[in-house]
Amino acid sequence: MSDQNNRDQLRSIGSTTGGGAPAPSDRNSLSIGPDGPIVLHDVHFLEQMAHFNREKVPERLPHAKGAGAFGVFETTEDVSAYTKAALFQKGVMTDMLARFSTVAGEQGSPDTWRDVRGFSLKFYTSEGNYDLVGNNTPIFFVRDPMKFPHFIRSQRRLPDSGLRDNHMQWDFWTNNPESAHQVSYLMGERGLPRTWRHMNGYGSHTYMWINAQGEKFWVKYHFHTEQGMEFFSNQEASVMAGSDADFHRRDLFDAIERGEHPSWILSVQIMPYAEAKTYRINPFDLTKTWPRRDYPLVRVGRMTLSRNPENFFAQIEQAAFSPGNTVPGIGLSPDKMLLGRAFAYNDAQRNRIGTNFHQLPVNQPKVPVNTYLFDGHMTYHHSGNAPVYAPNSGERPWADETGPMPDGWEADGTMVRSAYTLRSDDNDFGQPGILVRDVFNDEQRAQLVETVAGSLLGGVREPVLSRAFDYWKSVDADVGARIEEKVRQGSAAKPAEGMGEA
Ligand code: HEM
Repeated sequence: MSDQNNRDQLRSIGSTTGGGAPAPSDRNSLSIGPDGPIVLHDVHFLEQMAHFNREKVPERLPHAKGAGAFGVFETTEDVSAYTKAALFQKGVMTDMLARFSTVAGEQGSPDTWRDVRGFSLKFYTSEGNYDLVGNNTPIFFVRDPMKFPHFIRSQRRLPDSGLRDNHMQWDFWTNNPESAHQVSYLMGERGLPRTWRHMNGYGSHTYMWINAQGEKFWVKYHFHTEQGMEFFSNQEASVMAGSDADFHRRDLFDAIERGEHPSWILSVQIMPYAEAKTYRINPFDLTKTWPRRDYPLVRVGRMTLSRNPENFFAQIEQAAFSPGNTVPGIGLSPDKMLLGRAFAYNDAQRNRIGTNFHQLPVNQPKVPVNTYLFDGHMTYHHSGNAPVYAPNSGERPWADETGPMPDGWEADGTMVRSAYTLRSDDNDFGQPGILVRDVFNDEQRAQLVETVAGSLLGGVREPVLSRAFDYWKSVDADVGARIEEKVRQGSAAKPAEGMGEA
């Protein structure tokens, strides 16, 4: 329903109670005389108060601050040799929702604090919903899901003061050297995108694609912005954080209202299934990229965002994305982080939104649903009078896949708690070193030194400070030495104070 039609309809019915009867007054409570006490049987007033007290749902634990828009994904190229997924067949247009976010900040936090940005996509495909829940960086801070809650807490607030704390952030990062690649991205330009329209998105993990013949491939998704990448300087981001905390949210909404529809080109890197066993880097390690010279980009299609939400709560807050939502032709991979995420999201949403979150309009698939999930709080769609158990004698279909999974892989070995087995080119500082030395130019390197030194001067103490110098010297000897020099000069000039969010 359009906004105008909605308003016309509301005007024609007037104000009602939740039960649909005419509401007595939305201005005056019921009292004994104009100056007397209010009375307990003012049901309309009580309903207002009680509902207001329950108006909010918990915010997302990470990625609380964000916004998004609807659009369409068009597959422009023939990639059927790699996947049979209906949405990735040439010429297919798929309705979709995108949500962008910061990671660590709460609902009201400024959009332009330095952070990784979330890049969540929900494709309403003809085979059910497919979600790709990525970031604006191709890698991540850690590679074992056991570390994720610890990582997120280290980026949030201290238990006593409730303040954010640079010391805690660097303590975590320097105790987990696999973070160096993502921290190099974060402290570089990617940590301050000018707008959401001007940033790339990545699936980050390795996923599986399966073609119609059952052949499997490993893929990495890259969404390149057609608006071009643009960034804020530390100074611009700080000023914006103070003057318009919702700058990114506003920018996307206003651009779409103006008819400027942002778009991204999707390409994938494709690795033949068997090559994963012998490639010199563990292809399932989320802290590593695949060099393009080994696995060049293959173009798939274009995503365009063209429609703003009509109701932020219903379409953005209640949106539930999960890396576990896959469709035929697409699978997960042995990346331990991805497998941990496959559980985490739906569980968070059962708590955050409610047991039947998948029945809400924004999350509902656009295909008929026949699940064996029944009842619970706020169920809206019910199964009717059909068997509620499987197997049954045929009145209600039930699934019965047996044998090797079309999207499965081989796994064997003793059950252990262990890091991944290292391969010849696996080390935590190799790729961040290449990023900082060969991808960044002189100006970007100088900016990196400035940003890291500024962050370390924001209250990071020994022994974490010395560990941070070693961490950066392991990334690049020169960059590390420059950071140390700047921090030593800075701390001699003025004692460390506060934290530089930007
Ligand atoms: C084991 C690792 C991880 C766990 C356990 C985890 C868990 C979560 C949880 C519980 C949420 C909130 C979901 C909700 O309430 O709807 C969330 C949101 C999100 N996560 Fe993760 N996460 C992990 C790693 C990652 C990684 C590696 C990425 C990106 C590559 C990522 C991207 C996102 C994004 C973009 C959102 C926001 C989703 C939205 O827009 O609604 N997360 N994560």
